[in-house]
Amino acid sequence: MHLFENYRCLPVRFIRGEGVYLYDDKGKRYLDFLAGIAVNTLGYADPDLTEAICLQAKRLIHVSNLFENPWQEEVAKELLEEFWTKGRVFFCNSGAEANEAAIKLVRKYWRDRGEDRYRIVVFKNGFHGRTYGSLSATAQPKFHEGFQPMLEGFDWADLNDIASVEKAVNDKTGAIMLEVIQGEGGVNECTEEFLKELQDICDRKNLLLVIDEVQTGMGRTGRFFAHQHYKLNPDIVTLAKGLGGGLPIGAVIAREEVALSMGPGSHGSTFGGNPLVCEVSKVVIRKVKRLLPHVEEVGSYFKEKLQALKAGKVKGRGLMLGLDIGRDCSEVVKKSLERGLVINCTAGSVLRFLPPLIVEKKHVDEAIVVLEEVLSL
Ligand SMILES: Cc1ncc(COP(=O)(O)O)c(C=O)c1O
Repeated sequence: MHLFENYRCLPVRFIRGEGVYLYDDKGKRYLDFLAGIAVNTLGYADPDLTEAICLQAKRLIHVSNLFENPWQEEVAKELLEEFWTKGRVFFCNSGAEANEAAIKLVRKYWRDRGEDRYRIVVFKNGFHGRTYGSLSATAQPKFHEGFQPMLEGFDWADLNDIASVEKAVNDKTGAIMLEVIQGEGGVNECTEEFLKELQDICDRKNLLLVIDEVQTGMGRTGRFFAHQHYKLNPDIVTLAKGLGGGLPIGAVIAREEVALSMGPGSHGSTFGGNPLVCEVSKVVIRKVKRLLPHVEEVGSYFKEKLQALKAGKVKGRGLMLGLDIGRDCSEVVKKSLERGLVINCTAGSVLRFLPPLIVEKKHVDEAIVVLEEVLSL
């Protein structure tokens, strides 16, 4: 054995994928309702994506961020078309890195204004990554176990409880950071009312609003960003996972005034936004924008079918859905896998479904047949 044992791997070796299907080394076919945890937005072997990889690989894979990068400009332009106001973009390689940069940006923004407002309100059961900043922002003790001390400056509040937010905010608070649907925490949705009040607190107390769209973004919920379902004006949005359709890329989008706090030399990444990932990301973004009505339609269909199973509480939006079965769901995941359906269990009892955005109603029907059987065992 040559690897760290940090991953609890299921005993399957996928060697190929096509559309919404994966194939293992024995030739068995699996319907993929996980998409590499919300990464393979366009499914597998998308012809436009693979062509972009091949063409760009022949032209130029990497160039240092010491030089101009027109590929980053193009992707940034596409992302900013979906941002509510004038903004700027920084590219990195993952969700944790994007959140790390966002946390640094909050501190820098306030320091530049001579204010000691370094604290950030975050939410219990949130998940923002595994690096020290993003891990410290993750208000779940189980992820901190053994790694303390955490980075100072995070105050925990309860999701959908505005009084707990009011209580957590103090004169050192610079920002509120959240996922509008908590992914790893169990597909927990913020209510519309709560988000309205949250925006109101940010406006009243002059706090930056940071929305982590690492899992919910890139069309996952039927809008390009999940926060677009609500009346929110975030100062900072983080993105990764689906952004590269399988290649590693993360991004921080910030309101221009905020973004400009990261002046020359303040932050950086060697690989962040290299020509290869950006060329591919441009293709993914354009295709995802066209898929949004499809995601809403198939997502609603899937949600209804899950509700009809009457196997627990159905949660989520678009193609980010969860089914809380009220008991440990890891066995259900294993049994589904044996029957050729890839799903995931999060927060102990929540079956999580994150299929590629190209999934069709017939695939939903196929998944439901397996779930019905497995849940009745
Ligand atoms: C909401 C959210 N933020 C951040 C992350 C961390 O992303 P990465 O694993 O790319 O560092 C995740 C990963 O699951 C996530 O779901």
